[in-house]
Amino acid sequence: PIINFAYPDGSSTEIVCDSGRTLMRAALENSVPGIIGECGGQAMCATCHVYVTESDRHNLPAMSEDEEEMLESTESPRTLGSRLGCQIIMGGQLESLDVTVPPAYL
Ligand code: FES
Repeated sequence: PIINFAYPDGSSTEIVCDSGRTLMRAALENSVPGIIGECGGQAMCATCHVYVTESDRHNLPAMSEDEEEMLESTESPRTLGSRLGCQIIMGGQLESLDVTVPPAYL
């Protein structure tokens, strides 16, 4: 799978990851700026917050209650595209994904 990370300044970076990897894990492995993953992927920190591009949102599974709650306390504002990167598993229906990295940890 391929993930494209766009930045508020207009730049972007594209990475290739293995199927079954979470977006957060793949971002850390590729040193993608702005994704921290402090809690290690347990939906408890929101430092893996991303904005998923509108056209890709229907490919994502529904949010768990934990994710829903955690997104109430993101550092950057929550939007309709807000998701936790640690809850997005790449592969299967999700062969490519476009996200924007929020400014909070840049
Ligand atoms: Fe902590 Fe995703 S890594 S909520």
